[in-house]
Amino acid sequence: MDERLDAIFASFKGEKNELIPILQEVQEELGYLPDEAMRQVAHFLRLPESKVFGVATFYARFHLQPRGRHIIRLCCGTACHVRGARKVSDRVKEVLAVEVGQTTGDRKYTFEQVACIGACGLAPVMTIDEKTFGKLTPDRAKEILTSYGDGAEGGRE
Ligand code: FES
Repeated sequence: MDERLDAIFASFKGEKNELIPILQEVQEELGYLPDEAMRQVAHFLRLPESKVFGVATFYARFHLQPRGRHIIRLCCGTACHVRGARKVSDRVKEVLAVEVGQTTGDRKYTFEQVACIGACGLAPVMTIDEKTFGKLTPDRAKEILTSYGDGAEGGRE
């Protein structure tokens, strides 16, 4: 990790206002922000570690835990909720053996719930990476996950 961080730091001046862009680059490189990486960012910018951790936890775009290779986002907006998103969510959690916000043990999937994604006509809706799946039922959601290969067993290591 050190070499990768050094390569990132080399393109910055070490000024305090570079904190957010540096965190973004570190996250792009490592997939998330491990504690040790944030300590090194603090050292590079001569900032208190608490400041770096504070910024990283404040912004939803920063992730402090490893993320899955596929990001599943289930809409929990009103239209989706009314049309059964909760049952779909329960099935996804069961199939992957994770709770909302968690990543499967094999780091294949991260399951998130999000507010309206603007496809209410297709409710209930989920996305997997850039793909959108609409008019879901719990069984359909399971089929979709199964179609991603061994996804159905993803969390059961
Ligand atoms: S409420 Fe789910 S897409 Fe709008």
